[in-house]
Amino acid sequence: MKKCDLGLIGLAVMGQNLVLNFASHGFSVAVYNRTREKTEKFMASRTEGYDIRPSYALEEFVASLSSPRKVFLMVKAGSAVDASIDALIPPLEPGDLIIDGGNSFYEDTVRREKYLKEKGIYFLGTGVSGGEEGALKGASIMPGGEKEAWELAKPFLTAAAAVADGEPCITYIGKNGAGHFVKMTHNGIEYADIQLICEAYSIMRDLLKMTPDEIRGVFEEWNKGELNSYLIEITTEIFKKREADGGYLVDRILDAAGQKGTGIWTSVAALNLGVCAPTITESVYARNMSAAKARRVKYSKLIAKGTEASAPDREAVIKAAKNALFLSKICAYAQGFDLLKAASDAFDWSLDLGKIALIWRGGCIIRAQFLNRIYEAYEKDPALDGIIEDSYFLKSVENGLGDLRYIVGLCAEGGVPIPCFSSALSYMDGLVSERLSANLLQAQRDYFGAHTYMRTDKEGVFHTEWQ
Ligand code: 2AM
Repeated sequence: MKKCDLGLIGLAVMGQNLVLNFASHGFSVAVYNRTREKTEKFMASRTEGYDIRPSYALEEFVASLSSPRKVFLMVKAGSAVDASIDALIPPLEPGDLIIDGGNSFYEDTVRREKYLKEKGIYFLGTGVSGGEEGALKGASIMPGGEKEAWELAKPFLTAAAAVADGEPCITYIGKNGAGHFVKMTHNGIEYADIQLICEAYSIMRDLLKMTPDEIRGVFEEWNKGELNSYLIEITTEIFKKREADGGYLVDRILDAAGQKGTGIWTSVAALNLGVCAPTITESVYARNMSAAKARRVKYSKLIAKGTEASAPDREAVIKAAKNALFLSKICAYAQGFDLLKAASDAFDWSLDLGKIALIWRGGCIIRAQFLNRIYEAYEKDPALDGIIEDSYFLKSVENGLGDLRYIVGLCAEGGVPIPCFSSALSYMDGLVSERLSANLLQAQRDYFGAHTYMRTDKEGVFHTEWQ
């Protein structure tokens, strides 16, 4: 029998959907899952009409692949990836390829790629964004590894990618961990984007006392302009969902967020690389604060906010909130792209930042036309220091800064927490401050630890005997 074009291990929903995606583009796919029943169920329920072939032993699975063999891993991130790699090494041969499509930590990808290279086996650490639907219908795909490895995988990965404005949402990202780093940063930006939308909701619900239906109307309007995005679109859909008794489902969902860790990884990477990404990091803290529900309930009874939200002009606040949201979103993306730039320099990845913006336009969760503006900014100037200094973003910042300041002030007065909006404002205010207060900080460090300081009026490094 003719051998399969590729194989996939790990038949949870993402894995199943990717198999169907590859198969629907004419590729023959061998499948294997640790637990046999999952394979049987998948084969019985979803594979009719496709060239999908099950194996119930790993050796049989590998033997069914055409050479060089390409094995796509879609198993749980972490030790399961290492276990699967170790199990594959004996039956695979030099020149074969393993692709890890899970949300692996980029440092693990660097380690695994090096480990497999010693055995002559190619490894592509590949970010796949778009959730279950993206996996089935077209994802944003971020492969990292050797160029030769990419060439082996290019036909079927490109076929499985989403298409935006006629272009597949996939590009070779860079060496070793670059693909998973870019996927991680995508998720960090996504955390901030989501939190900012939630804060805009909070302004409408808690400050303006609007109903879910009224709030839906505002998001629907916003989705027609420069804020147009998948996340705003699903937000409007969420506000439509009613319960059997007519109540809004969104009002009955517990306000305690979960997380799987990619926002934390992004924040830690930013801290380690010395990149200022407070809006992204605040979005992680916001999830932590939300998850501390019991504590918040307790403290809400212990401490009065000592303030009452005034009843500001609804139309004016909504208009300002829109500009504040857009500016804060620009800050989050600027921070994410700063992080990519820093990682590219530190790890020698030569990331094409404009191209990365392009492949996020379709398939993935942060997909939006807005990403075209980032692409255009890098097209105009590939060596751009930061996206904010591009003329389009500069104009949006000028437009939004007064409104963001107004909204943050209003929420401070009204006791409505908007950590990401507030951090975006401080970020902007810092960014445009020629002089900060760190002269005092340096003096303190020199005072207690002889850390030395530089001066504004003389070259050199100085230390003072302060006492
Ligand atoms: P399972 O069906 O046998 O649990 C997501 O959890 C996917 O990863 C599932 O297909 C799961 O297989 C697989 N998986 C989790 N841990 C694994 C391991 N240690 N080895 C192989 N596959 C694993």
